[in-house]
Amino acid sequence: MSGSKQILETSRLLLREFVPEDADTLALILSDAETMRYYPVLFDRAGVEEWIARNRRRYEANGHGLWAMVLKSTDELIGDCGVTVQPVDGIEELEIGYHLRRDHWGHGYATEAAQACRNWAFLSRNADHVISLIRPENMPSRRVAERNGMTLWKEILWRDLPHCVYKIDRTAGL
Ligand SMILES: CC(C)(COP(=O)(O)OP(=O)(O)OC[C@H]1O[C@@H](n2cnc3c(N)ncnc32)[C@H](O)[C@@H]1OP(=O)(O)O)[C@@H](O)C(=O)NCCC(=O)NCCS
Repeated sequence: MSGSKQILETSRLLLREFVPEDADTLALILSDAETMRYYPVLFDRAGVEEWIARNRRRYEANGHGLWAMVLKSTDELIGDCGVTVQPVDGIEELEIGYHLRRDHWGHGYATEAAQACRNWAFLSRNADHVISLIRPENMPSRRVAERNGMTLWKEILWRDLPHCVYKIDRTAGL
């Protein structure tokens, strides 16, 4: 997408900043009931636009946020993955999050993107550790966290719902 800033490249994926023109394609992900089954609400069109605006504010404020995941072979937007700041037990943590369009599940794309984001946080932000916040019943997401080198750190109530906090330290040497 012209005018959007590329952040990371992996063997099969590009991660770039979201732009408002991504709303239609992103809605295929954030408005899909199966994809969002572990979230309290589905995003309607206004919600998708606000989601993009929120991440663009994060780019401005922090230099990072959830980025658009683009499949290099087709140039399609197939999901998001990135690094956000999230409060956990009163401390601001760097969190790696990901959502993928359903017809692309099971090819390792989320893992590939999450590993690149983890390395980015360690190298570009000098992070001591990074986390992922995951509902306990979300096994695919837990597997992505584990394949990202993370282990279960603690279980907490986060936004009033039980969440696993997965974590990897920079010293893990990946
Ligand atoms: C979580 C998500 C991003 C994973 O994307 P993906 O690209 O399919 O993930 P990967 O292919 O890298 O790995 C998926 C892993 O989950 C496993 N998995 C898939 N479905 C599963 C299920 N129902 N139960 C247990 N494990 C499952 C896969 O086998 C794979 O693990 P393996 O390689 O060890 O076999 C995708 O399922 C998604 O978008 N889910 C909805 C949004 C979401 O919940 N995001 C995370 C919020 S914390």
